[in-house]
Amino acid sequence: MTTALIILGAGMGTRMNSDLPKVLHHIAGAPMLVHAMKAGASLAPEKTVIVAGHGAEAVQAAAQNWDPDVIVALQAEQLGTAHAVDQAKDALRDFEGDALVLYGDTPFIQPQTLEAMATARAHHDVVVLGFEAADPGRYGRLVTHGDTLEKIVEFKDASEGERAITLCNSGVIMADAATLFDLIAGVGNDNASQEYYLTDIIGIARSKGLTATVVRCDEAETLGVNSRAELASAEAQFQARARANALDDGVTLSAPETVTFAHDTVIGRDSIVEPNVVFGPEVTIESGATIRAFSHLEGCHVSRGAVVGPYARLRPGTELAEHTKIGNFVETKNARIAEGAKVNHLSYIGDATVGEKANIGAGTITCNYDGVFKHKTSIGANSFIGSNTMLVAPVTVGTGAMTGSGSVITEDVPDGALGLGRTRQTNRPGFASKLFQILRAKKARQTKGH
Ligand code: UD1
Ligand code: CA
Repeated sequence: MTTALIILGAGMGTRMNSDLPKVLHHIAGAPMLVHAMKAGASLAPEKTVIVAGHGAEAVQAAAQNWDPDVIVALQAEQLGTAHAVDQAKDALRDFEGDALVLYGDTPFIQPQTLEAMATARAHHDVVVLGFEAADPGRYGRLVTHGDTLEKIVEFKDASEGERAITLCNSGVIMADAATLFDLIAGVGNDNASQEYYLTDIIGIARSKGLTATVVRCDEAETLGVNSRAELASAEAQFQARARANALDDGVTLSAPETVTFAHDTVIGRDSIVEPNVVFGPEVTIESGATIRAFSHLEGCHVSRGAVVGPYARLRPGTELAEHTKIGNFVETKNARIAEGAKVNHLSYIGDATVGEKANIGAGTITCNYDGVFKHKTSIGANSFIGSNTMLVAPVTVGTGAMTGSGSVITEDVPDGALGLGRTRQTNRPGFASKLFQILRAKKARQTKGH
């Protein structure tokens, strides 16, 4: 079945106390909206419409950054969830198929759940995702009769008997798109909130002889974020699941509760991740790599058998080939490190390529930035960069070449050559002893004076 996604994200999110639209707050390195888009992507939607209002421009930029084909519909005034969905009508004018409504502030809906809804759609006109709430609070209540969903009553409008129902509305709804917009046309706002409730379409559908049913999911999946505290607990929930998944996938985490994952972190089997490692977005780690304690990685690829850290920082564009070593207090950015190369201590390698089995000495820095432009450094295979070398880019160090410790390398070093760029050392015999004498005598005079 062809599906269109409608994701609601026009609300201001007052309780976030933020200038940022609520759906753009991040969980695991991605806006909540992107989590909803990723969940919906499991149904391979033909079209995705985001309904935006507060901060619509920023919402559009974030949504299209993830998927350039996304359509953003504006809901200038937030008159209720039915009114919000109705704003997607134009964008879906020529669309034939099912529409799935998701909320942009409900990031944890699982693909299997949406698949179950799609399956239920084969037998029912409208499918609503419900859950048994531990504390039903102010959720809309699902009034059922056997398998049939008869209506949804909002808490504010519910009778005491209806409030006693624990089966609640998640907000996720699926129906044929044309049917959905037809039903919405019949929704009014004569209720406690004077809002156009999407939930009213169930009663309307039933009165027209259409069928409706409930698919159930875990309450945890329907977790919505309305405040910073809820954002923090959503993050915690995401992390707990990501850690459990990594362990299941055969990754060793010696202190799982201290490792932070991003929404898209991929780690191969038999890798080891030590405590306090942070994965930012777009990290892939192949099998059998070791990420040692307190390392921070983002936008990078780490190959089999590589060892990173402790205390390493891999920034975007870092590519580590097999059996490379990036040691403590090393920062890399936009750097391709070839097989077996080592950067073991206190270095910055940016906008650079490092050839196979090259050894980069402690304190080496690629001076890639002249204040205006970025320049490239190329370091040849089997080369040896002396400690504390400044490589002033653009510059190339050839295959099997060396640089002397403390050199400032401003010119290319040919293959097999030794590049030296430092002042020659001179020794003054006896000078140190004399200087010590003078200084100690001075100190003695000062001590007497006191
Ligand atoms: C809604 C449901 C309720 C359900 C609950 C689950 C309705 C009437 N009620 O209530 O049954 O139990 O979600 O969390 O649907 N939004 C817009 N434009 C609007 C109004 C809302 O884009 O005009 C968006 C919000 O940004 C939010 C989502 O729709 O992402 C839900 O709106 P919200 O006002 O939070 O609905 P609830 O009162 O929580
Ligand atoms: Ca809500």
